[in-house]
Amino acid sequence: MTRKIPGSALSIISKHSNIVVHRKIRPPTKNEILDGVRNSDAILCTLTDKIDADIIDAAGPSLRVISSYSTGVDHIDIEYATKKGISVTTTGDILTETVADLTFALILGVSRLITQGYELVICNRWKYGWDANLLLGSDVHNKTLGIVGLGKIGSAVARRAKGFNMEILYLKLHGRNIQLENELGVKPASMDELAQNSDFLSLHSSLNSESYHLIDQSIFRSMKHTAYLINTARGPLTYEPDLIMALRKKWIAGAGLDVFEKEPPLSANPLLKMKNVLLTPHIGSATLSTRTKMAEVAAKNLLNVLKGKSPVHSANSWIRRSHLKINPENE
Ligand code: DGY
Repeated sequence: MTRKIPGSALSIISKHSNIVVHRKIRPPTKNEILDGVRNSDAILCTLTDKIDADIIDAAGPSLRVISSYSTGVDHIDIEYATKKGISVTTTGDILTETVADLTFALILGVSRLITQGYELVICNRWKYGWDANLLLGSDVHNKTLGIVGLGKIGSAVARRAKGFNMEILYLKLHGRNIQLENELGVKPASMDELAQNSDFLSLHSSLNSESYHLIDQSIFRSMKHTAYLINTARGPLTYEPDLIMALRKKWIAGAGLDVFEKEPPLSANPLLKMKNVLLTPHIGSATLSTRTKMAEVAAKNLLNVLKGKSPVHSANSWIRRSHLKINPENE
């Protein structure tokens, strides 16, 4: 187990097997993982642990399951694991509503200048009381939301957006989803249409070789100057240097980001100094309740496989759109 996680995963698993836990606050290094996994039957990892062929080989032939305490599994070489008959599992859709909540927090926070307002008040810079010109943000209600990745989380965000009477477009990368169109009142759009029409462009796609750096200069250039980019999925969906340029040159109005190309971002990352951003430290699923449930499922996935049963959420079938071999940032 590469990290201590909330909830009962450790106690559930240790009832059935010996368990070695990396107990430091920082993530394990690759060498620590290589050492830690030797001769193990199972690995319980988090999304910061890159589980590649080296790690899988180091575990040896006893390895039967890689249970990730995450819903995204772009950090695992699923193709290699599957080839070796190793089950790869995820925490599935437990975090859906929690991540959708944070997405809306970023949408509202960045457009209504919440952190700027907070700073003004606590730094005693709010001098004259109510002011007709103070912190004029942008509306969320009645605006257009563009969703890249109308999966579980994207749909949950769309449901929230309906309450704000938003027009909702989604990227029809692999064709339309008529059922969701009817259910959520969302409309299909090409990437260009999405970029041109969205007031909030929100990313919910998994990270794979198709979605890697999907949002780059060409997209930012065609977005409205008043639009916001929201990313609660994975940093590398956006080519960050282009995002920085778009924010600097005011091609877009701002960004609400929970994820970054490199986490944590380097202290020299210009995003950290920008005014038109709202940044959070990859906390999309971070509520006690959701993280506790994720731990239970991660433990159950792992034990099910060891007992010869099916895991609750398998990711082996994601091979087609999975492993990202092009992300040196994660090394
Ligand atoms: C996941 O599980 O993939 C999330 O990013 C965790 O917050």
